[in-house]
Amino acid sequence: MGFSGRPKCYVFAIFVVFVGFVGADDYVRPPAGRSLYASLSDDHSSTSPQQVHISLAGNGKMRVSWVTKETTPSTVKYGKSQGKYDASNTGTSSSYKYIVYKSGQIHDVVIGPLEPNTTYYYKCGLDSSPELSFQTPPAQFPIDFAVSGDLGQTEWTKSTLEHIGKTGYDVLLLPGDLAYADFYQPSWDTFGRLVEPLASQRPWMVTQGNHEVERIPFIHKERFTAYNARWHMPFEESGSSSNLFYSFDVAGVHVIMLGSYTDFGPDSNQYKWLECDLKKIDRKQTPWLFALVHAPWYNSNSAHQGEKESTRMRDSMEALLYNARVDIVFAGHVHAYERFTRVYKEEADKCGPVHITIGDGGNREGLATKYKDPQPNLSVFREASFGHGQLRVVNASHAQWTWHRNDDKQPDSVWFTSLASDSACVV
Ligand SMILES: *[C@@H]1O[C@H](CO)[C@@H](O)[C@H](O)[C@H]1NC(C)=O
Ligand SMILES: *[C@@H]1O[C@H](CO)[C@@H](O)[C@H](O)[C@H]1NC(C)=O
Ligand SMILES: *[C@@H]1O[C@H](CO)[C@@H](O)[C@H](O)[C@H]1NC(C)=O
Ligand SMILES: [Fe+2]
Repeated sequence: MGFSGRPKCYVFAIFVVFVGFVGADDYVRPPAGRSLYASLSDDHSSTSPQQVHISLAGNGKMRVSWVTKETTPSTVKYGKSQGKYDASNTGTSSSYKYIVYKSGQIHDVVIGPLEPNTTYYYKCGLDSSPELSFQTPPAQFPIDFAVSGDLGQTEWTKSTLEHIGKTGYDVLLLPGDLAYADFYQPSWDTFGRLVEPLASQRPWMVTQGNHEVERIPFIHKERFTAYNARWHMPFEESGSSSNLFYSFDVAGVHVIMLGSYTDFGPDSNQYKWLECDLKKIDRKQTPWLFALVHAPWYNSNSAHQGEKESTRMRDSMEALLYNARVDIVFAGHVHAYERFTRVYKEEADKCGPVHITIGDGGNREGLATKYKDPQPNLSVFREASFGHGQLRVVNASHAQWTWHRNDDKQPDSVWFTSLASDSACVV
């Protein structure tokens, strides 16, 4: 089952809980790729930074996050040439407890303002740390996004990351289900080390999935403990009260990250925040508008049908997104790829968002290969293969979406025009 490297009794003890609270679908998946947990060994010294990842933090700033086993300074030194750091900033560090596990020091430092489309060299913590580099996204079009959900840490994940690394993307968008730690906390650390080569070089913007909840009734009551501690996203910067939903602007695109596993009803904080956030958007500044959720609102796969995070969240929030003319809604959760036409209230609508499920990053549960037959008219392309998406936003009106299988055969490729540029859809 791909649990190599995990203490078996621990896994058995939590398995009962896992089945009861997370694995609600009765879909039987085919065998998955071999897990990499065991091979992601940790040869870091107690003070050397590991699991480095960066994320956009508003107004040309970047948040740098990393972990050390022991307490070290939460300082990032950075500059535009190698070995020369003319700026630095100090942030905070914290650790969390989960049953008997205690995390390392998780450091968070916001640096900037930074120049757009520029390479920066940086060091985390001590002077003895290795030099890393990242590239800031451009301030205007074109901009390239990589999109990948349900990533996990298997050989398929590795293949997906290798493909994404070659694309020259500016920002990665991840619609939930990151590490598949599933209560076993050291798996968050192995995941952090697996993604560091990419996530330390380009901003990774993520939202949470069901595998991030990690609540165990009576034993660990808090939800999202590890996720919130390790993947601090710019929620304060976007006026949100929770790391589980936030938004950001990058190069003429406004991206809204929603939380499928937190309250989404009309009285919820998330709903009120979304209403507010949508009102603030200036389509002249950000003509493109994307949203990400974990559980798809449109889905013709047999897996994950009828879950409340899909149906009730759609009932609650679809009108808000439609009236704001959201261009694309990305989702994960279903381990396959599917692209829908523009849709609203289950009917084709030329002013509705395109819905795309991209939950095929490579996790250990395998692919969701069974589909409803016949293919609904709203579903344009669907296939259960591991892969990733690339979205190149060329200008205010045109963007090219491509889905690549990891074996690179016949991708799905389509041009989208923005709703802001369609006079029939202007609000
Ligand atoms: C980013 O920088 C590269 C290299 O200097 C340049 O070719 C490219 O046009 C720039 N992109 C944008 C969007 O400014
Ligand atoms: C779906 O498309 C087919 C073929 O174009 C058509 O005959 C059918 O009526 C459509 N179904 C719905 C529900 O729109
Ligand atoms: C935007 O890009 C598309 C596709 O390359 C092109 O056809 C169109 O002319 C561009 N629009 C503007 C305003 O440059
Ligand atoms: Fe999921």
